[in-house]
Amino acid sequence: MLVVHSKQELAEHIAEWRQNDEHVALVATMGSLHPGHLKLVELAREHAERVVVSIFVNPTQFGADEDFEKYPRSLELDKRRLKTTAADLIFAPDVATVYPFGTEQATTVSVPGLTENFCGAARPGHFDGVTTVVARLFGLVQPDAAVFGQKDYQQQLVIRRMVEDLSMPVAIITCETIREDDGLALSSRNSYLSEEQRAKAPLLYEALSSVGDELQNGQRNFSELEKVANKKLLAAGFVVEYFSIRRAQNLEIPDRDCDDLVVLAAAQLGEARLIDNVVVTV
Ligand code: PAF
Repeated sequence: MLVVHSKQELAEHIAEWRQNDEHVALVATMGSLHPGHLKLVELAREHAERVVVSIFVNPTQFGADEDFEKYPRSLELDKRRLKTTAADLIFAPDVATVYPFGTEQATTVSVPGLTENFCGAARPGHFDGVTTVVARLFGLVQPDAAVFGQKDYQQQLVIRRMVEDLSMPVAIITCETIREDDGLALSSRNSYLSEEQRAKAPLLYEALSSVGDELQNGQRNFSELEKVANKKLLAAGFVVEYFSIRRAQNLEIPDRDCDDLVVLAAAQLGEARLIDNVVVTV
């Protein structure tokens, strides 16, 4: 497996693959890889002969008081984890490679509307950072396809919208959320949980699944379902940022006969901000 840090080296390998008529899929990550990321790589390989994994902790998607500095970084371990997967190349650029004019002077990509609520409201500027870096990675890697996890449900919708709106020639593929045996969605930020918090953390998915089941059974009092789940999580010690039932396609408020729903939640448990969702197709 190749490991490259510069644009030039990356471009050389991509050009060589293109000459052989090989397709390229990108798995964009911030490193600290876990089995959820490895699943993205596996799925990427089903869509292209070559898989690039980018590892870049993107400063522009973190707010001033967020965890950019302490975000877990483990390039050597990540290389070892990827060795036995279908990844062909790790692209691990530095900030100057991704933002040659600096982060302050960077051309930015912003998706209005879809980014205003939920994680966008809680983390102002976050999605501008995400779309900006993903657009840059698409420019550098020129992938035919890119795979993102369903755990970051709003993120994958925002990226899909960007790609559609800017006619980017990249197929966006969403990969199911990979979970621990007790239901907790895998996330690099789970490492912030204490032992006690870790034991409580699966309650988030439990609450989402139970609302998902109610919806599946025809319950349509959305605000009551949200209220009950909120209460349950608060009682367990979560600081709930949002717990909401929305249209799966665009996160708008659904009406009673909407048959494609998503239940989304974000909650703080100690130092860890957990997000998760379940999609309900009736
Ligand atoms: O989901 C992530 O890990 C990041 O938001 C992404 C897509 C790699 C952009 O930095």
